[in-house]
Amino acid sequence: METTEKDLVIFEGERAANYDSFVQQWIPNYEYFMSTFPKLLAKASEKTMLAVGCGTGNELIALKEFDGEWYIKGVDPSPEMIHFAQQKLASYEEVEFLIGEVGQLENQKLFGAATLILVLHFIKYPNEKLALLREIQRRLKPGAPFVIMGIFGNREQLRGNLKVLESLLPNDLSEKEIEERLERITNSLHRTSEEELRKLLERAGFKSPTRFFQTTIYSGWITQKLTN
Ligand SMILES: C[S@@+](CC[C@H](N)C(=O)[O-])C[C@H]1O[C@@H](n2cnc3c(N)ncnc32)[C@H](O)[C@@H]1O
Repeated sequence: METTEKDLVIFEGERAANYDSFVQQWIPNYEYFMSTFPKLLAKASEKTMLAVGCGTGNELIALKEFDGEWYIKGVDPSPEMIHFAQQKLASYEEVEFLIGEVGQLENQKLFGAATLILVLHFIKYPNEKLALLREIQRRLKPGAPFVIMGIFGNREQLRGNLKVLESLLPNDLSEKEIEERLERITNSLHRTSEEELRKLLERAGFKSPTRFFQTTIYSGWITQKLTN
């Protein structure tokens, strides 16, 4: 995994190749989340979705399997993650990718929905989180649903939920791997408190979000772009 001069965390090499088994091991109910969120987008005014930080394409597959009529644009700065996504989605029509950041997308086209799944905690500073949320907001139709999932909560919530996560991990992970990953979550990833998430979304032009999913340190939220 590489960090660029702009603090962009790009998944590559082994991290990209092992990503799908990694999320299954480390995020309890990841598959349940993926099978659920598409239902929350079903009433969007247009079946077009922007998937920011789409990685290996898991949210794209989930949405296409739920309803094949969706057009999806997946955006991710990692060429390797996008490569895996392209392979997985090769048999689906109406799916396109951009290797890069959401700010590089033309902004005349407005999407009917968007996702930002497991991305925000790689962004260090609140002003950079806000800038990303604004880039997404300006590419959405008024009222469009926006699903966000990641590490949210204050220090105390994270501490308690990490213990729960540790108890739920599969038995075949080594102690070293567990220790390193828990250390990384605590000290290198940039959780957002619930209060801060609410403020960031409101400042970016979204409604106050509703939590619909929680599994250990991870939670999923739904909001909509404001209509005026
Ligand atoms: C943990 S993966 C999540 C992949 C996918 N959303 C999922 O849930 O399986 C995080 C992804 O975010 C991408 N990423 C990091 N910073 C980003 C940014 N500023 N904008 C968009 N994607 C970013 C990484 O390259 C990586 O593929």
